[in-house]
Order: sequence, then structure tokens, then C-alpha cells
Amino acid sequence: PRCIWLSRHGESVYNVEKKIGGDSSLSARGFQYASKLPEIVRESAGDVNLTVWTSTLCRTQQTAESLPYKQLQWKALDELDAGVCDGMTYEEIEVKYPDDFKARDDDKYEYRYPGGESYRDVVIRLEPIIMELERQENILIVTHQAVLRCIYAYFMNVPQEESPWMSIPLHTLIKLEPRAYGTEVTRIKADI
Ligand code: G3H
Repeated sequence: PRCIWLSRHGESVYNVEKKIGGDSSLSARGFQYASKLPEIVRESAGDVNLTVWTSTLCRTQQTAESLPYKQLQWKALDELDAGVCDGMTYEEIEVKYPDDFKARDDDKYEYRYPGGESYRDVVIRLEPIIMELERQENILIVTHQAVLRCIYAYFMNVPQEESPWMSIPLHTLIKLEPRAYGTEVTRIKADI
């Protein structure tokens, strides 16, 4: 039976600095996750032949680097574009753009960063990815929190409006097995 595995990139330098967006490298812990990932995937997937999909950002490729499978990069898997807030911390956004900060909290699904994207925008740009996923066999997707929330909501039949609030932890491999009665989920937390 076909499965889909999902993982966020390992912890990045920006994650440590609490900055959003950007294209930073993995932190030391992030690289530890990247080096453990092949073993974690193998334990979950066995011998099945996977294809790995990453975004075009450096942190997802560094995370997937040691995986012994064919890899494909998709621009459509890049993180939600925070526009003018790219590279800022949430505290900085609250000071510099207080109205935006509040508007986002009020309607996180529809809120679009000035010059950037909303969750709704991400859901729309993920449509070709979802269509391709439905056609493919076993795929491991290494991407970003906002993007994974939307993909996860789709397969779990959660209304997309709820996806911005879902928790997708770092350093955790999520296995989705679509079944007749719904999708079975297994979460494997890396020990780092
Ligand atoms: O850097 C962006 C985060 O992955 C998305 O988090 O939508 O909860 O601000 P947020």
C-alpha cells in the first residue's frame, strides 16, 4: 500500500533566532536530525522505493541530503512567503506592524502578509502538488511548517481554515497511510 511521509526541515539558524522566512542553513541540531533521518525513514518504510520531494530552500535540501533516494525540488513547496516581514521575529512584527500582527491573529487563514502570502494562497499553490501526490506511489516530503499544515489538513480531512493552528513539531517523521476508512497516522520523534 502507498504511504506518504512528511517531515519539516531540521532546526535552522533562523528557527534558533526565532526569525521567520529567509533561506538560512540548518543549526547543529538540525544537521543531527538530517544525519539520523535515513535510519528513521528506513525503520518506518523498510525497503520500499521512495522519492523525496523538497522545496527549493537550502534547509530542506540539507535535511534530505543523506537520504539514499531520488530527489525532486518543487518551488510550490517553499515556505509561506512572509513578504515585508521576512527575516523578522514575531516580537519585531508586533512592534513594527501592530495592525498586521492583530489582523493575522484574528484571521490567520485569510491574512496575507504585505508583499507575501496567506495560508489560502499556499493551499492554492499546493493544488498541483496534491494532484501529483494522488498519482504517485511512496513519497517523502521534506518541507516547511505552514506548507505541511496544509498538506496534513488535506489528507486528514481537517477544514483548511484550521490548518494555520495545527502543530507540526520539528524533528518528527509523520507517516500517512490512506485507508478506506480514513488516513492512519504514525509519528516518529527523533531522539536528538
Ligand atoms: O515561518 C513560518 C512558519 O513556519 C509559519 O508559522 O504561520 O504559525 O506564523 P505561522
